[in-house]
Amino acid sequence: EEKRRGAFSSRRVFILAAIGSAVGLGNIWRFPYVAYENGGGAFVIPYLVALLTAGIPFLLLDYGIGHKFRGSPPLSFARMRRGAEGLGWWQVGICAVIAIYYAAVLAWAVRYAFFSFTKAWGADPAGFFIGEFLQVSDPGVTAEPVAGVMVPLVVMWALVIAMLALGVQKGVGATAMVFIPVLVLSFGALVVVSLFLPGAGSGLDALFTPSWSALAEPTVWAAAFGQIFFSLSIGFGIMITYASYVHRHTDMPGSGLVVGFSNSGFELLAGIGVFAALGFMAQDTGQPVGEVAGGGGVGLAFIAFPAIINEAPAGALIGVLFFVSLVLAGITSLISITEVVISAVRDKFEIGRVAATLVVALPMATVSVLFLGTTSGLHVLDIVDHFINQFGILLVAVVSMVVVVWGLRALPQLAAHLNDHSSVHVGLWWRALIGVVTPIALGYVLVDAFVTDVQTPYGDPEAPYPTWMLAVFGWGSAGAVVVIGFVLARLRWRSATALDG
Ligand code: PHE
Ligand code: NA
Repeated sequence: EEKRRGAFSSRRVFILAAIGSAVGLGNIWRFPYVAYENGGGAFVIPYLVALLTAGIPFLLLDYGIGHKFRGSPPLSFARMRRGAEGLGWWQVGICAVIAIYYAAVLAWAVRYAFFSFTKAWGADPAGFFIGEFLQVSDPGVTAEPVAGVMVPLVVMWALVIAMLALGVQKGVGATAMVFIPVLVLSFGALVVVSLFLPGAGSGLDALFTPSWSALAEPTVWAAAFGQIFFSLSIGFGIMITYASYVHRHTDMPGSGLVVGFSNSGFELLAGIGVFAALGFMAQDTGQPVGEVAGGGGVGLAFIAFPAIINEAPAGALIGVLFFVSLVLAGITSLISITEVVISAVRDKFEIGRVAATLVVALPMATVSVLFLGTTSGLHVLDIVDHFINQFGILLVAVVSMVVVVWGLRALPQLAAHLNDHSSVHVGLWWRALIGVVTPIALGYVLVDAFVTDVQTPYGDPEAPYPTWMLAVFGWGSAGAVVVIGFVLARLRWRSATALDG
């Protein structure tokens, strides 16, 4: 069985691969700004509460499911109960959608690593990014190809397909073994260089100065739970898939603690590096730190950092370290989400590694290039990202948690399985968190997000998205993955014994 599905050669490789999945764009460009916006130093409290009460417990649930039932999400859920298979395919669908746009960001970052030397953006990084580089059109009007994005996007997919075709250990595992240490070095170097910039201290002050009143705001707590779920890559099949590749008799809870705390450690490091650099920029331009951050996310990486690279001593070095880190962190995450889809297709249709990789990744790459490599790419990315995060990741997480705990009543056997080979024991507290506390917290975040999106259509009020775009790419993509998931679950398993496990 291990021969057929593939397996990680050791616990260490699994841990590195899991860290590779967890550490991604979310750590580098999302966490620092979310923390800054939501109470600064005071954000530590909701963040740690979310990590300990929801993040790590849910990570262990995913590990338990994948490790005990030894399958991709559809196979694992089907083995728990035949009727639950659709839940697994829903998770697979979400992964496919995320991969399609995540790859585009990496393609941009590759080009920007080179631009760090040429400073192709000149004196106006914002204008360059939207205009010359992405050639963004008015929402929905045209979709002309943009060669400067399409070409690196094709290269990115070719690379990822090659690595995935090599299999679980030689592809996924080996990539993480190489990329994660290099990432730690390159990002560590970036942090050190940034800390020496004049004004770095004021950036750290801006990030860490606690605003205690934030703790009374429900939105701050929601932001903390949202960040933890996205950042740990939990609840949508990645950790189920990776855990299914781990030898039986392996300590899973212990591994979970290592992965959870490494990911958070990297977030803290990223916060320091990014805000040190922003502090320099703020001092250089005489603006407040919050103003030069570009709003976090895409703006932080592709507009604020180029401005820093223009002004800072050793700007090119900062640029290369930053964008190379982004690419390294992102590739291992992109591999992990694409692997979920490949693994599911292999389990269900019993096809070989290379064939499955091509059958799955070529269509994904094609859609990715056609939609994201055009003048409408940025709009599509913005909308899909927003909706699939809220009504994909968070929703499927709550639903699967409730189904596993209350529908299938699987927690006692999962707890017994996790405890079998571990010194860290999950007990009653774990079952209470997973069964009650986490679903309620997440449910609250979700309802709040839903109400917000219904009341105010997502987007910039100054340049609103056409309703059809929100309907198709937003609600449509989040809804389509549910429907497609339950259709796929109706198909027959290729081998009658697959479900016996
Ligand atoms: N956990 C990753 C991060 O923090 C994000 C990610 C999302 C990874 C989706 C894989 C899939 O960036
Ligand atoms: Na992360």
